[in-house]
Amino acid sequence: MTTLIEMENVGKSYGAIRALRDISLKVNAGEVTCVLGDNGAGKSTLIKIMSGLHPHNEGALLVDGEKQTFSSPREALDHGIATVYQDLAVVPLMEVWRNFFLGAEISAGRFPLAGLRIKQMKRIADEELRKMGIVVQDIDQPIGTLSGGQRQCVAIARAVYFGARVLILDEPTAALGVKQSGVVLKYVAAARDAGLGVVFITHNPHHAYLVGDHFIILKLGTAVLDRTRDEVDLDELTTQMAGGDELAELSHELGR
Ligand SMILES: Nc1ncnc2c1ncn2[C@@H]1O[C@H](COP(=O)(O)OP(=O)(O)OP(=O)(O)O)[C@@H](O)[C@H]1O
Ligand SMILES: [Mg+2]
Repeated sequence: MTTLIEMENVGKSYGAIRALRDISLKVNAGEVTCVLGDNGAGKSTLIKIMSGLHPHNEGALLVDGEKQTFSSPREALDHGIATVYQDLAVVPLMEVWRNFFLGAEISAGRFPLAGLRIKQMKRIADEELRKMGIVVQDIDQPIGTLSGGQRQCVAIARAVYFGARVLILDEPTAALGVKQSGVVLKYVAAARDAGLGVVFITHNPHHAYLVGDHFIILKLGTAVLDRTRDEVDLDELTTQMAGGDELAELSHELGR
């Protein structure tokens, strides 16, 4: 098993706010590491450290066994770490193929070369999306006309095509219905089976358990659960996620 990213006792403070403390985890190739937790638990902070958005200020981040402190997402990307953010930095009116190549266009050149390159980019985008089973009616249609689930899938296909080794997904299923979530979870599994190390952030233990190999629950910035798939079942994950005792207390308060 190849470990792509390792965190050793990582901590992060924003001024006086200690958002994360003493986090140790591994992201392995061909596995899905799920990070669960309530609002404000520190999930986004954790992935921002891996993706180069915010540097950590305690502990160590190792990529391919070497200590790193990324100072920009570009640096993380150069190490093959790609992040799909929940709000997706897509321009709604931009065509699907152009969005697929956004920031990585095959350089245009002059007429008639420019036309050829555009044809080439359209063909590649279409092929890559089909490879992952995403069929868009027309590669020229604006990305804004795709559903939330399809947009997540385009972003995943794009990361895979551009050579990501680690794929970080921040709550890709949060805003989606059951069917759409299922589609996204299939691509999470496809990325895993293609050998990528996937970091999957979610509130939903059911979604996590469908694809996860390793589960970490964060609470107020610390890991309260850290188990592999054979060490935890869905019931326990759900109970822990719901905050077992707190739920019992709430049920008592609500008096039902
Ligand atoms: N840029 C920032 N400046 C100051 N505090 C921050 C910043 N980003 C996050 N925090 C704080 O750090 C803590 C963890 O936030 P984080 O966004 O990582 O939580 P989260 O688990 O992703 O929550 P959610 O489920 O709502 O997305 C929170 O208390 C939050 O207010
Ligand atoms: Mg978040």
